Amino acid sequence: LLIIIILGILSYLLGSIPSGYLIAKIVRKIDIRKLGSNSTGATNTSRVLGFKYGLLALFFDALKGIIIMAILVIFKLDQYYIVNIFDNPTNILAIYGLISVIGHIYPIFLNFKGGKAVATSFGVVLFLTPLLALMGVFILVSIVYITKYVSLASIITGVSIFLVSIFFAIFNVNIMKDMATPGLPLIPIEYAIVYGLMASIIILKHKQNIIRLISGEENKFSIKKWEFT
Ligand code: G3P
Repeated sequence: LLIIIILGILSYLLGSIPSGYLIAKIVRKIDIRKLGSNSTGATNTSRVLGFKYGLLALFFDALKGIIIMAILVIFKLDQYYIVNIFDNPTNILAIYGLISVIGHIYPIFLNFKGGKAVATSFGVVLFLTPLLALMGVFILVSIVYITKYVSLASIITGVSIFLVSIFFAIFNVNIMKDMATPGLPLIPIEYAIVYGLMASIIILKHKQNIIRLISGEENKFSIKKWEFT
């Protein structure tokens, strides 16, 4: 149990490492929290420093969500009897992903003001359910292409991933007992619950973006020109 708790704390601390903030400090000695949307996330890093650095922030922010889950899998610590929901041990992997997302948005190293949960949540989904992550990328890119709003795309993608995961989780749970379901992706209900929480966090963290979207003042990103306008 001690190792489970220690890994939880590590997950939060890892999530707390503000990639975008550090990259901006190192590359240009600037405080990214005072520029653009004030977020330390990958989108704002792209906006302030350029796309290359935005991708770098995306990579590290996603990685933060993955590392502890990978350690749990390697040491076979991913199943644990916390709540016995369906006569099965609880798959605790996703909980660690969620903790790292919380670290990312409330980083202990930056007075609890960080990013908007998108990149780290993406890392979590990519590790747990790669096909859903692929679907997410498709939805996100399509919406940015059509609307030019990264924030709107992030919100819709987060909600879509949750809806699809809960559909498969419930569907599988219902038929699991008496029917095998070859070929169907089995998504544990624990993942779907965490995806729901991540989608809610994404929506809450985009409050200012939603206000700007409604008033038509939200920043735009053009995929064709590959730049923010
Ligand atoms: O990834 C966060 C994105 O959805 C919005 O970022 O910096 O435009 O508020 P930003």
